[in-house]
Amino acid sequence: MTKTKKKCQEEFSNVNPHLKRKNPCKKVKEEVEQEIESSDEEENSKIFKIDDITIVNADCLNYLETLDDNSLDCCITDPPYFIDKLDNKWNSTKVTARKNNSHIKHLPKGMKFDKNQVKELYEFYFKLSKILINKLKPGGFFLSFSSPRLYHAIAMGCDAAGFEIRDMLNWVYTQSMSKGMSVSHIIRKNKNLTCKEKEEMIEAYKNFKTPMIRSCAEPICVAVKPRNGMTYVETEINFKTGLIDFSNKVGINSDKVIANVMTLEEINPAFDNNFLVSKPNKKEKGKDNTHVTVKPIKLMEHLINVFSKKGATILDPFLGSGTTAIACKNTKRKCIGIELNYEYFNISKYRLNKELS
Ligand SMILES: C[S@@+](CC[C@H](N)C(=O)[O-])C[C@H]1O[C@@H](n2cnc3c(N)ncnc32)[C@H](O)[C@@H]1O
Repeated sequence: MTKTKKKCQEEFSNVNPHLKRKNPCKKVKEEVEQEIESSDEEENSKIFKIDDITIVNADCLNYLETLDDNSLDCCITDPPYFIDKLDNKWNSTKVTARKNNSHIKHLPKGMKFDKNQVKELYEFYFKLSKILINKLKPGGFFLSFSSPRLYHAIAMGCDAAGFEIRDMLNWVYTQSMSKGMSVSHIIRKNKNLTCKEKEEMIEAYKNFKTPMIRSCAEPICVAVKPRNGMTYVETEINFKTGLIDFSNKVGINSDKVIANVMTLEEINPAFDNNFLVSKPNKKEKGKDNTHVTVKPIKLMEHLINVFSKKGATILDPFLGSGTTAIACKNTKRKCIGIELNYEYFNISKYRLNKELS
C-alpha cells in the first residue's frame, strides 16, 4: 500500500466509522476508492520510471530523506549556483524573462554580484551534503559542477559535511563571451568631473574593464564519502566503490590516460591529444528544451564511466532537463534524478521517452 493510500484510509477512517467495520457500506467504499485513486494519480504524476531510470518532481532535500542509507554508488550533479534567479527556487519563467533579471537590466543572466550568494550556496550545499553522505556508500564519489567564482562554497559545503575533497576537474571550452564591461558610461555619469576630465579619463581607461575575465573553464568538485577505515580493496569488495576506472581513455585516438582537464572541442593538437573527450552530438539538446544550462551528454557519460561501474546507481539531485539520466541509460547505470521545476521535469520525461523509443 502506498503512503498516500494508507494516509487516505487513516484520515477517512477517523471521520467515518463505516470504514472501521468489516464491510463498509458500498457507497462509502466507492467514495474512499475514488479518493485514493485521485491521490495516487497525483503522486504518480510526480514520479516517472522507465527501465532503470527514476525521475522525480520534488525538492531534493525532502526526497533524499526517503532513500535508504548506503544505497547510492555515486552522485553527479550540476547544482543551482545561487546567481540571480538561479537558486534553489529556480523559476523557469523568471529565468527566461528578459526584464528585471538583474539589478542592471542589460547584464546577462547570472552576472549580478552579491556577497550573500556564497553564504547562501554554502549553507544550501552543506545541508544537501549532510543528507547525501548517509545515502552514499562508503567510497562513493560526489561530483559537483560549479563556477570559478563559487567553487569554494560548493567544496566547503561538502567538506564541512564530512566528505573528503579529492580533486578539482576542469571542463575547458572556447565558446564563451567576455563578461567584463567598459567603464566609460560610469565615468560620463560622474558629477565631480569636468567634461574635459571625463574625456581624458575615458581615453586613459579605454582598455580597462570590470573584473570579469572571460571564463573558459568550469570546475567540478570531486568529493568522496570516507571509507570508514577500510582499504581501497576492502571498499571495492564490500561496496564496489572507491576506485576510478582508468580503462577510460581520452585524446584524439582515445589512447591517453584520463586527466583532471577535459574538453569536448578540438582546440589545438597538443591539447586535444591529451584531454579530448568524444564530441557531443549537435542536436542532442532537443528543439523544445527551454533549460538554460544543459550539459553535454558525452561529458556526463565520461564522468559516469570514470567514477562508477556498470549497474551502479547514480543520483542527480538537480536533474534539470534530464541529461544525467540519458547518460546513465547510455552507460548502463541506474539513475535517480530529482528536479524541483515541473516544466523541466516534463522536458526530462520527454527527452528520455525519445531516447528510448
Ligand atoms: C544547473 S541546472 C541542471 C541542468 C542539467 N545539468 C541539464 O543538463 O539540464 C540545476 C537544476 O536544479 C533545479 N533545482 C534547484 N533547486 C532544487 C531543489 N531544491 N531540488 C531539486 N531541484 C532543484 C533547478 O530547477 C534546475 O533545473
